[in-house]
Amino acid sequence: MMNAENMKVTVGVCGGIAAYKAVELVRLLQEAGLDPHVVMTEAAEKFVGPLTFEAISGHRVITGLWGDRAGVGNAEGAAAGVSSVEHVQEAQTTRALVVAPATADTLAKFAHGLAGDFLSTMYLAMHGPVIVAPAMNVVMWEHPATRANVEILRARGVRVVEPGSGYLACGMVGGGRLAEPEEIARVVVEVLREGSLETEVDFAGETVLVTAGGTREAIDPVRFIGNRSSGRMGYAVAEAAKARGARVILVSAVTGLECPSGVEMVPVVSAEEMRAAVMQRLGEATVMVMAAAVSDYRVKGVAAQKIKREKTRVMTLELESTEDILREAATKRRPGTLVVGFAAETEDVLANGRGKLERKGVDAVVVNDVSEAGLGFDSERNSGSFLTRGGEVQFPAMLKREMAGRILDEVKKLRGKGLALSE
Ligand SMILES: Cc1cc2nc3c(=O)[nH]c(=O)nc-3n(C[C@H](O)[C@H](O)[C@H](O)COP(=O)(O)O)c2cc1C
Repeated sequence: MMNAENMKVTVGVCGGIAAYKAVELVRLLQEAGLDPHVVMTEAAEKFVGPLTFEAISGHRVITGLWGDRAGVGNAEGAAAGVSSVEHVQEAQTTRALVVAPATADTLAKFAHGLAGDFLSTMYLAMHGPVIVAPAMNVVMWEHPATRANVEILRARGVRVVEPGSGYLACGMVGGGRLAEPEEIARVVVEVLREGSLETEVDFAGETVLVTAGGTREAIDPVRFIGNRSSGRMGYAVAEAAKARGARVILVSAVTGLECPSGVEMVPVVSAEEMRAAVMQRLGEATVMVMAAAVSDYRVKGVAAQKIKREKTRVMTLELESTEDILREAATKRRPGTLVVGFAAETEDVLANGRGKLERKGVDAVVVNDVSEAGLGFDSERNSGSFLTRGGEVQFPAMLKREMAGRILDEVKKLRGKGLALSE
């Protein structure tokens, strides 16, 4: 249950087969303690009657821009100092707009600022968060026009609840299926919680040591062996932990990212430097989140001068293994310190993640499949699983910022269970 006074959220329903699933969403939002009001597009009414939403929400359903109250809105609202124009009033008085299902048409209207109906006009008048849950035929979903519109909205801060894959009403199988109403409701609650002033400071008293970025192993003074890690996941964890009241030490390899405010940054370059920094600060940490992509090998005998191009077609570099920072950190941690490792895998993702959990002696491993396009390395988004000896929590594709919050939620649960190996 949320505990702010205004519980109103607006559910926008568009004209797609999945419109009936919005009924369940309204019910779930009510269960979460929210007060959903419904706006339907003209096309949505071809699929579900407004009466269904009226009965379940207990509120009049808005079905058009030109209704009786277009210019006078709700008298109570108008008296409270908000606009008397209904679509502006709706935008001003609601805490969030969630559009489910969001059609290709409505996504395009939102992306390009078209305002020819109530929902799209209201979207333009919104100050609060907007969440869209698209649903459509897989070819429509994958069309470059839809992809571009979704990216425009995402870049503008609109939260997109990704459609899942499966059997679609059009008879095809693939992406484009509306996310489950439970998932959409969960995101709405999460967005409202994030936006509320009372951010939980449930990490107060913890010192979270985060490693981030990809290490660089020198070949000569100008070249190095690196990897595709951007550092975004670790930075997101550092930022989230700081926001939740922790003291945060961020041991960061070279990234193009700005250090989150209030976070103590320890810049490093190579695996060896990262190891030294982690070992030096280990004693201060109560939680370690090791998100860095550390090189497994370094060049044996780094050239003192720039290596010149030779005529030979093959050049051999001799490599030697680097220290296993995660394992060493797990072994040398202070009693009670929780250690979370990361595993970026391209095959047998879960099995490899479980193997790492055991081999490294850590409390949890976040595994993700970096072979999936648009997720993981060098991307704003990630998906994965949080593996512990006792179980597995799956994270669907989401922004790294959101995933950081989910990881910290799981860390908190482990802490609640008193689960730290060294205790
Ligand atoms: C039977 C039928 C099913 C449809 N299902 C979808 C759908 O799932 N997703 C979608 O984007 N459009 C779907 N459409 C097309 C939209 O209804 C159409 O683009 C409409 O203009 C959307 O209007 P709205 O965005 O204002 O709701 C469907 C159309 C028909 C006739």
